[in-house]
Amino acid sequence: MKVLITGVAGFIGSSLAQAILQDERWEVLGIDSFSPYYDLSLKRRNVRSLGGERFSLIEGDIASLALPEVLDGVEVVFHLAGQPGVRGSWGSGFDQYVQNNVVATQRLLEASRDSRSLHRFVYASSSSIYGEAESYPTAETDTPAPMSPYGVTKLAAEHMVSLYAKNFGLPTVSLRFFTVYGPRQRPDMAFNKFIRAGLGMQPIYVYGDGSQVREFTHVSDIVRANIAAAQVEIEGGQVINLSGGASVSVNEVLSTLSGQLGRTLDVRYTNVVAGDVTRTGGSTRLARQLLGWEPRVRLAAGLRSEVDWIKSEDGNRGDAPDELPAT
Ligand code: UGA
Repeated sequence: MKVLITGVAGFIGSSLAQAILQDERWEVLGIDSFSPYYDLSLKRRNVRSLGGERFSLIEGDIASLALPEVLDGVEVVFHLAGQPGVRGSWGSGFDQYVQNNVVATQRLLEASRDSRSLHRFVYASSSSIYGEAESYPTAETDTPAPMSPYGVTKLAAEHMVSLYAKNFGLPTVSLRFFTVYGPRQRPDMAFNKFIRAGLGMQPIYVYGDGSQVREFTHVSDIVRANIAAAQVEIEGGQVINLSGGASVSVNEVLSTLSGQLGRTLDVRYTNVVAGDVTRTGGSTRLARQLLGWEPRVRLAAGLRSEVDWIKSEDGNRGDAPDELPAT
């Protein structure tokens, strides 16, 4: 089976590629534009760990590539490329969010519509489309109301994906990822920053009073759900939450981290940042029903896996561990 992974050099894209390549029947074509949102050497390291005959890489921007050729023979598209970052999506940078999240997705959908080999298009959506949600655990049918420009573009792209399912029968599924963490996590995300600061005896800056709650989801659970979404028989146009199993506050995360590092953390509370919601928490009922998926990795074990990865990162190749952490 030949699959295309967009954003293959990123945190989730490279983790998915690594897992898929363990199965010798699968071949991965990756695309990445190597946008400089964060240190490119991290992305290079992610991709280097994928080497091998069944992996090939196209460096380029989806919006300007000859996509019909790229999609030739591809059976599954995992569309993970995008402009990430909730809090940084205000201001003049918004053009990048529209271009990389909405326009790029539309281009890929147009090309996928004409493909004869494609049998699944998986779109990486986001819990940020809910904003301050209508209810908890939030169901897929609850009204989306993003709080950030980033969330608006993720929702626009998700709607676009559903349009191609409805109008042209494209076999799509959109997976709404809830704050993903674990080995290879982006350096701008909370856990990565907290762990590095904790290890380096540096201050940890919390936005607000730390009572904000997230349903953090381990990357290995996200990878399993993506692989399931490529293989199960489901009607096109589905939208499914992927949430980690327990909602916890940032303060609770810091307390667990303090215990794991065996030290008191220097936590400093700063202003709430526009775009941040107070709480996320998703229902996993549909994921269980349609994908046979449930989150397996609990926060303590998952956090430990990221601590171990960060500790081993200096001077190593940046490989993520092949094994899931114990739950
Ligand atoms: C994350 C990703 O960055 C988005 O790309 C993704 O779409 C989103 O999850 C999602 O689930 O939809 P976020 O929840 O903001 O966004 O993830 P983190 O950066 O890990 O932040 C988690 C919490 O920690 C937030 O409440 C944030 O305010 C807080 N935080 C983060 C701090 O207090 N200090 C920091 O230095 C960083």
